[in-house]
Amino acid sequence: MESILIDNVANTVVEAVRTRHSVREYEDRKIPSELLQELFAESLRAPSWKNSQPWRIHIVTGEARDRMSEKLVSAARAGAPNPDSPWLENYPSDVKRRMFDLGMRVYGVAGIDRKDKAAREAFMLRNFEFFGAPAAAFITTNFEMNFYVGLDIGCLLQTVMLLARTYGLGTCPQAALGAFPDVVRSEFGLPVEERVVCGISLGYPKPGSGLNEFHSPREEFSSLVKFYDQ
Ligand SMILES: Cc1cc2nc3c(=O)[nH]c(=O)nc-3n(C[C@H](O)[C@H](O)[C@H](O)COP(=O)(O)O)c2cc1C
Repeated sequence: MESILIDNVANTVVEAVRTRHSVREYEDRKIPSELLQELFAESLRAPSWKNSQPWRIHIVTGEARDRMSEKLVSAARAGAPNPDSPWLENYPSDVKRRMFDLGMRVYGVAGIDRKDKAAREAFMLRNFEFFGAPAAAFITTNFEMNFYVGLDIGCLLQTVMLLARTYGLGTCPQAALGAFPDVVRSEFGLPVEERVVCGISLGYPKPGSGLNEFHSPREEFSSLVKFYDQ
């Protein structure tokens, strides 16, 4: 397939790594279907344990995207998340600090008062509207949910996200898209053994959006990376 490139693309891996961040506001603009096909075909080069390739990728656009969004929003309004793999409840205190800090910063750029529960919930629901993205991919597996399957799927996700940058696309990886797996299975006609791991929204980042200009901070290099040579 011939590569389809547009403006605002990453031309090197370093550019893709530096310009990738979670995009939570998108332009109302479709992604050409050949571009999506090329991106996901290339993404299958991601590595996996013994080449097990434990993933299946289900991409929604157009009416399928709108229907899935409506059903997920209704499910989220009606009840609590019920993911196939339970979300962690306890984190080390330094991680809790980072997570709280992220929440505060994102609410800040979204103009949400931390004490405004209704506004926080409305923002949370944007997950299920794919933050306005024209396309979303759901990653499922028929493997037992296991740490190594999670690693493999993490490799796939990052491959998709970096490739997306080479087409000028933004992405947001979302555990939230695995919150209501029965809805996802029912829409795609999947058996109950097919587990929904997560999803990812894809589209053209909305220019001038405060939410998109926000890039989350990282810990000090020296506190996370150590070299040993003796
Ligand atoms: C496995 C995974 C699940 C995530 N789930 C969500 C999610 O449900 N909703 C969301 O808005 N962001 C989600 N994120 C995005 C993270 O908040 C984001 O990657 C992190 O804050 C670092 O910011 P950056 O991606 O902009 O560099 C997720 C990221 C990963 C890797």
